Amino acid sequence: MKGIILAGGAGSRMYPTSVCYSKQLILIYDKPMIYYPLSTLMLAGIREILIISNAETLPFYERLFGDGSNLGMDIRYALQPAPQGIAQAFLIGEDFIGKDDVTLILGDNIFYGNLDFVRCAIQNNTGATVFGYYVTDPERYGVVEFDESGKAISLEEKPKVPKSNYAVVGLYIYNHEVVQYTRQLKPSARGELEITDLNKAYLASSKLDVELMGRGIAWLDTGTPQALLDASTFIGALEKRQGLKVACIEEAAYMMNFIDTAQLSRIVTSLPQSDYRSYLEKVLKDDLLHHKYQK
Ligand code: TTP
Repeated sequence: MKGIILAGGAGSRMYPTSVCYSKQLILIYDKPMIYYPLSTLMLAGIREILIISNAETLPFYERLFGDGSNLGMDIRYALQPAPQGIAQAFLIGEDFIGKDDVTLILGDNIFYGNLDFVRCAIQNNTGATVFGYYVTDPERYGVVEFDESGKAISLEEKPKVPKSNYAVVGLYIYNHEVVQYTRQLKPSARGELEITDLNKAYLASSKLDVELMGRGIAWLDTGTPQALLDASTFIGALEKRQGLKVACIEEAAYMMNFIDTAQLSRIVTSLPQSDYRSYLEKVLKDDLLHHKYQK
């Protein structure tokens, strides 16, 4: 399974910041936003990741993550010259995907809670798997309609009158056919290759699985200034209470056995004196809290 993080976009709701700065590099409490989706993919066991963004921002991601080998990963980069839709990620990433399955996560989506369901969904996926999350404002998202038996029967992008409160979150799992399916798509009225159209194509072939994401999971979409503040406050409250960081990618790499103790120790030594470094020093020392993932 490969992973793609889509981290470009227009960011129009973040104007004027978006004129000169990428949304996904903005701090969410104590680390750049992109750390959160990256760690979600890592905790799902994905080590090969393509980050897609615009020309101005790609060099910043490269500076942050390099080729990923530091984290025991393979991280690559690709350009989306203009924000022409979420599904375009699969055309841009065609060579990277090859014949593999792929999980796409949006660079401004944050998931918090027990994320084992992502790993399970990846293992069980045969066509496409997407997740429905109960929200008060479904009209802002792709919305799923279910029949009485709980089977997904329709998907609509930003409907004026939503058929349910279940929004499709920015985390999508596809089999190797995704590039083929994407090639059949036509741009929508707003000129984008829509992820909802791709999911509809899988649905029409009876290859779409829509899973409900339980209320024990927090899904935050950080596309607006208020949502950014809410996400920072949420993560800050958790981290302050527990003394444990959310989305610390070095810790995730260690827990997932992508890197060993010696490598984590090398990373720690290379970091400037900071709260982040002190935290990783604690991770190195503290075996009790850190139950490493057993395959
Ligand atoms: P959106 O939130 O739909 O769009 P946006 O980030 O451009 O913001 P706005 O609506 O305020 O203009 O995008 C969701 C995520 O996907 C976000 O991380 C940006 C990314 N994205 C791309 O990288 N390329 C694209 O073509 C699109 C549509 C989105």
